[in-house]
Amino acid sequence: MPHRLRDLLARNRDWARSVEARRPGFFTGLLAQQAPQYLWIGCADSRVPANEILGLLPGDVFVHRNVANVVVHSDLNALSVMQYAIDELHVRHVIVVGHYGCGGVTAALLGRRVGLVDNWLRHVQDVRSKHRAWLDALRGDETRLAALCELNVLEQALNVCGTTVVQDAWARGQDVVVHGWVYGLHDGLLQDLEMTVQHTGQVDEAYARALAAVRRRYDASSAAAALVPPPTAPHPRR
Ligand code: CO
Repeated sequence: MPHRLRDLLARNRDWARSVEARRPGFFTGLLAQQAPQYLWIGCADSRVPANEILGLLPGDVFVHRNVANVVVHSDLNALSVMQYAIDELHVRHVIVVGHYGCGGVTAALLGRRVGLVDNWLRHVQDVRSKHRAWLDALRGDETRLAALCELNVLEQALNVCGTTVVQDAWARGQDVVVHGWVYGLHDGLLQDLEMTVQHTGQVDEAYARALAAVRRRYDASSAAAALVPPPTAPHPRR
């Protein structure tokens, strides 16, 4: 449903009016400061907008988005967002949010060439390589894709934990919790993958536990699928 640019500006005016009507002084109140509690690191996908999904207004969530919610150790953009959010805004929670049906993860899984972005998606292919034997044993590309979307969240959350920004915050006793969530395009719901880390000493155990939970879930559903007998052909093959 494409909107003309003029329509977008009109929609914006309607939106600002309705927010101000519900909460008089809302915008001028935000001028003084922003004090978000959350840093959302998500996919750039238009179907996964942080504020709308969380039901939060401007001022409540600091957001970084890129293709396939990747956190690369040397990405100055992501690192700067994290540093500002943690050191200056003192966010309490850093949430890596992946989503099922991610185009970037799909391209990485299938080795599909898209263009320049392939180089960025190499990081997701690294995730795939790390878990290749287990992924290959799953039944069907759709299941593998969903599993890789979840694994990508865990790996990127692990990368967040490894940044100097988060390590330094923990070292000085700052209260910062890293989380990994996944969003369902089909139902609009977020799921906690329970990769929840509050200090350096928890990182390995939290990652291992969350990874084991993902594996258990997919292994169980693959085993259940294997129990269903294959459909019998109506006529014997000649
Ligand atoms: Co995506």
